[in-house]
Amino acid sequence: MKRVIIKGTGSFLPEKVLTNYDLEKMVDTSDEWITQRTGIKERRIVADDQSTSDMAAAAGIRAIENAGLKKDDIDYIIVATITPDYMFPSTAALVGAKLDIAGTPCIDIEAACSGFLYGIDLAEGLIRSGKYKNILVIAAESLTRIVDWEDRATCVLFGDGAGAAVLTAEESEEGIISSTFGADGNYTKILNLPAGGSKNPATEQTVKNRLHYIQMAGNETFKVAVKKMGAAAETVLHNAGLTAEDVKWLVPHQANYRIMAATAKRIKVPEEKVFMNLDKYGNTSAATIPIALDEMNRGGKLVKGDNVVLVAFGGGLTWGSVLLKWAK
Ligand code: ACO
Repeated sequence: MKRVIIKGTGSFLPEKVLTNYDLEKMVDTSDEWITQRTGIKERRIVADDQSTSDMAAAAGIRAIENAGLKKDDIDYIIVATITPDYMFPSTAALVGAKLDIAGTPCIDIEAACSGFLYGIDLAEGLIRSGKYKNILVIAAESLTRIVDWEDRATCVLFGDGAGAAVLTAEESEEGIISSTFGADGNYTKILNLPAGGSKNPATEQTVKNRLHYIQMAGNETFKVAVKKMGAAAETVLHNAGLTAEDVKWLVPHQANYRIMAATAKRIKVPEEKVFMNLDKYGNTSAATIPIALDEMNRGGKLVKGDNVVLVAFGGGLTWGSVLLKWAK
C-alpha cells in the first residue's frame, strides 16, 4: 500500500539559554513556581541577528539531509509559524531563498501550536493528489520576540526553535494512518495577540497598552487544551482500530507538563510512553512536536512500525492529532 511517510527530520535550537533562575531576576517569579506549574526549567532565545526564517532554514536543511535527499528534490515548502519574519512575504518564501531553492512553491500556515500537524495534514493531501513528491514541512517560532517580558504569567512559558520533516510517499505498511483536526474561532479572547493586524493596526496607543504581545487566560486555556487533546488522540486511535495499549509513543505539544500528563491519563497511556522535553525548551508553539520527533529520531527512540500519536492544541483555537506508524 502506498502511504505518506516521514522520511527525515531536523531541528534547530538557538544557543542562548534563559533559565528559570535568570527569570527570577526579571519578574516576580521563582524556579519552584515555574517547575511545579509547568515542568519548564529553561528555554532558548533566538540570536539578535537571527529571525524565524533563519531557524526554519537550518532545521529544513537538516531534515533534507536526514531524508537522504538533495535540496532540489523538494517540490513544496510549508512553514507553520505565528512569528513570521514579516506580515508578508511569507516565511516559507524566505526559507526557499535561504535554501537556494527559490522557485519552489510554498506557503505559511497560521494555526499556532497545532501548526506543524496542520502542515503534515496538508502535505499528506498534496502528496496523495499526485501533484507533489517530497514536501518539506517546517515549524519555526521566535516567540520570545512577542512575549511581554513584564507579564510573569506568560513570559516564563515560551521559547524559540525550529523543527522540520520531509514527507514523501512510499510503498509501505508504515506512514500516516489516521488524523483529525478542528478549530473554533469563538475562543479568540483566551489566547491571542491583539494588535498589529488589520483589526487593531499599530498605533502609539496599541504600543502603550502592550497589545503587541501574547495575551492568554492560562487557566481557561489549560482546561480546553486537556479536553481537546484527549478527544483528538482518542479519535485517531479509534479510527485506526487501535487502543492505548498499541501506542509506543505519545508526543504531545509541549506546553505544560500537567496538560500532557492529564491528556495521557485521559486516553490511558502510561506516562513513561509520553515524550517530554519541555524542561529544556519550554513552549516553542508549532515547533515543539517536530523538535521532539527529531530528538527521538536521532536518539534512536523510534523503531520501524512503532505507533506514534502526535497531538496538539493552540491559539485559534486549533487542535489536531496524527497517528503514524514510524517508517524510517
Ligand atoms: N510566577 C509566580 N506566580 C505566578 C506566575 C509566575 N510566573 N504566573 C502567575 N502567577 C500567579 C498568579 O498571579 C496567581 O496568583 P493569585 O492566586 O495570587 O492570583 C497564581 O500564580 C495562580 O495563577 P494561575 O494562572 O491560576 O496558575 P495556573 O496553575 O493556571 O498555571 C499556567 C498557569 C502555567 C499558565 C497554566 O494555566 C497553563 O499552562 N495554561 C495553558 C497554557 C497553554 O497551553 N497555552 C496554549 C499554547 S500557547 C499558544 O498557542 C501560542
